[in-house]
Amino acid sequence: MRTYAIRTFGCQMNKHDSERMAGLLEAEGLVAADVLEDADVIVFNTCCVRETADERLIGQVSSLKALKTGGRPDVVIAVGGCVGQRDGTALLRQLPHVDVVFGTHNIEELPALVAAAAEGRRAVSVLDGTDRFASDLPSVRERRWHAWVPITVGCDNHCAYCIVPAVRGPERSRVFEDIIAEVERLVADGVVEVTLLGQNVNSYGRDRYGAPRFAELLRCVASTGIARVRFATSHPKDLSDETICALAETPALMPYLHLPVQHGSDRILEAMNRGYTRSAYLERITRLRAALPDIALSTDIIVGFPGETDADFEQTLSLVAVVGFDHAFTFIYSPREGTPAARLSETVARPVAQERFDRLATLVRDLSLASNERQVGQVHTVLIEGPSRRDVGTLSGRTPHNRLVHIPLGDDGVAPPAGGLRRVRVVHAHPWFLTGEFTEGEV
Ligand code: SAH
Ligand code: SF4
Ligand code: F3S
Repeated sequence: MRTYAIRTFGCQMNKHDSERMAGLLEAEGLVAADVLEDADVIVFNTCCVRETADERLIGQVSSLKALKTGGRPDVVIAVGGCVGQRDGTALLRQLPHVDVVFGTHNIEELPALVAAAAEGRRAVSVLDGTDRFASDLPSVRERRWHAWVPITVGCDNHCAYCIVPAVRGPERSRVFEDIIAEVERLVADGVVEVTLLGQNVNSYGRDRYGAPRFAELLRCVASTGIARVRFATSHPKDLSDETICALAETPALMPYLHLPVQHGSDRILEAMNRGYTRSAYLERITRLRAALPDIALSTDIIVGFPGETDADFEQTLSLVAVVGFDHAFTFIYSPREGTPAARLSETVARPVAQERFDRLATLVRDLSLASNERQVGQVHTVLIEGPSRRDVGTLSGRTPHNRLVHIPLGDDGVAPPAGGLRRVRVVHAHPWFLTGEFTEGEV
């Protein structure tokens, strides 16, 4: 039996696409390999949002060279996703052991490209765009109880630092009824949590219906009977009062919002072309907390954007402290060829950016710990995700606020099934997770 393995880099959209690639390969009769190096077909679903992601791909593909030269010349190595989309044929020159290159708009071609490579032909296919949504394709969900549901693909925002619009194309929204029908099918298939996906979910519908319909979509998705609805990513400039209302009024919409701010200084926000000011962002946070006092908030922040001064960076630190994020994902600015920011000359020296990054990371850690410490003693309904990665005697799950909880199994070792909802009392806080114990009570 021929086997496959897929290694996924990058964002949740890539995780979704990888599930479709698995579905396509399994429809051709391939089965998943336990170990990447043992597979007959190895697919890299790639990311190029920062340089580090690019480098990891090159490192990993190069390390497979020994497979091909060492007795398994028939192994097919395929590179898809955002690097495939960006580099196309050039990848074959750069990585001589790659057999197949495909892009973000044509994952349905993967089986045909793999078949060509198996016959000894190196195959490249990258499209400029498509009208199709990968959701029509077969899928193998990594977690039976969870599904990624794209509602838009692409992005129209053109933040100055960002490569995503170049590799994912302009924003396109799916048909409203198609999304609801897909969630209904997923509920019937036992899925308890969906994550709606888009680079800017708040503008869902604008291209197709002339005005955003995200709040309406959220309410409708929640009414399918799905237990939990999450979504990513929200753009602050498009987060509407209607969406905030829907979040506050609809129990299935989880009380957690990822709202990337990117920077705390108006000067840099403008240079980034983000379309909002610091005070406009803070106003959205105030509005959110007025409607949902205990909502959990996370964000993305870039340090070292060209022209960032010490004073600008202090503005980032102060914004993070003022909001008191429950969590933040922090990045050092990475110039991406072809983006407007890559042409800016006033770059920040690496040691300066690193020092700022470390200061921010310390603040984020302190805030995360403080946020988690406030949970100790509380009881939450936790969605069980399965055994913890570190310890099979421990289960992992998520609270409604998206906090990770580890729960040691009792002496009987009986574990509730993955996808089950259980009441858990929080007993201890760490910066990045909680520990808890099962307790009685209705979920
Ligand atoms: N559409 C989403 C996610 C985009 S990529 C959004 O708008 O938030 C995820 C994060 O990567 C971004 O939020 C940003 O913080 C970071 N990022 C994007 N381009 C980057 C770059 N060139 N250098 C460093 N970080 C970057
Ligand atoms: Fe990139 Fe900005 Fe679009 Fe997000 S909103 S994908 S950061 S261009
Ligand atoms: Fe990376 Fe592409 Fe996502 S560049 S962040 S995988 S859209």
